[in-house]
Amino acid sequence: MAAFRTLNDLSPAGKRILLRADLNVPVREGRITDTTRIDRVLPTVEELVEKGGRVIVLSHFDRPKGRVVAEMSLAPIAAAMAEKTRHTVRFVSDCIGPEVEEAIAAMKDGDILILENTRFHAGEEKNDPEFVASLAKSGEIYVNDAFSAAHRAHASTEGLARHLPAFAGRLMEAELNALSAALEKPDHPVGALIGGAKISTKLDLIGNVVSKVDILFIGGAMANTFLAAEGVPVGKSLQEAEMHETARAIIARAQQAGCKIILPVDAVIAREFREGAPSEICPIDAVPADAMILDAGPRTVALINEQLAGLKTLVWNGPLGAFEIKPFDAATVAVAREAARLTKEGKLKTIAGGGDTVSALRHAGVADQMSYVSTAGGAFMEWLEGKLLPGIAVLTDAAQHVVPL
Ligand code: 3PG
Ligand code: MG
Repeated sequence: MAAFRTLNDLSPAGKRILLRADLNVPVREGRITDTTRIDRVLPTVEELVEKGGRVIVLSHFDRPKGRVVAEMSLAPIAAAMAEKTRHTVRFVSDCIGPEVEEAIAAMKDGDILILENTRFHAGEEKNDPEFVASLAKSGEIYVNDAFSAAHRAHASTEGLARHLPAFAGRLMEAELNALSAALEKPDHPVGALIGGAKISTKLDLIGNVVSKVDILFIGGAMANTFLAAEGVPVGKSLQEAEMHETARAIIARAQQAGCKIILPVDAVIAREFREGAPSEICPIDAVPADAMILDAGPRTVALINEQLAGLKTLVWNGPLGAFEIKPFDAATVAVAREAARLTKEGKLKTIAGGGDTVSALRHAGVADQMSYVSTAGGAFMEWLEGKLLPGIAVLTDAAQHVVPL
């Protein structure tokens, strides 16, 4: 990975710093259900204000599509952030314009100002130069700490880095270092555990991963497609018949690259997809025509866990079964706990990310026992696909042209 500048390269004292955070936290019925993204960006905010910076926080929240949508205001999230820090936090109900200018003029060193949802303006997602210029007026320095939004080439994630001296925040730095340790220069042998429902959404990801890792464990409904492609009957299981050829091509490519693919050898099957549905365990080649695979079976878990013991690095994206409904969470939980145990013993480095993955690890009670858990969903996936994320590209680019501060 090319170099990028961090807070180590920055003297924030007395400066107006535009900090792009990702405060796009999950909210249900008006309540924040998980504050991870707030918690993980706070060290950057606090470091900057404690060094005398004036921190102006920018973020999107949800997808208001260029209009002001009251339920998508950042105000409640700003309030939650204010509660978590002893520094003064103010909120302004726009991210550009006279009210913002006034608030910024009134800022003192060490103050925090949170601005309203950048996506209330259509210019944000369009990366419109005029909108970028309006945002840029508010600051002298740009710090991007929103790795989880770095796959978007928006005004506040990409455009600003072209206008102001640009730096990675501490969370961005941690994410980039962890991801680089996972796939760019990892300790081998490296395994990837890729689960989830559909190959079609993870095709590029699997294609990239097989050329980098030594073992690929495939789980979730995605495994059914691989099995069916190899002629194993999967009954009524979720699978993508139109992806069989692609699945076979991936297997061939993995063989060429020397990547061992491990598919389930047994399954937990049921006739209904609901919590507590009666279930049985069967060998993978004995799935009845009227049954569906809802989880990997115990022999598969044993096989994966045995292989984990020989690995130095594990990248985890996606669950092994329908972990949201019991008892189909068993395989995901058992493998997650084994990965956590090996990690705790210092034998394995585990890097996990992607929306469902974090909930699955949390469900297993081990989300805080991995070596690194990314705050990103889509950005983590695109990174695993081997794509250069626009928000990262511009930061590394900015590091090449050192702008005097
Ligand atoms: C995310 O939650 O993945 C990021 O905040 C990006 O949000 P988006 O998918 O709405 O661009
Ligand atoms: Mg999203």
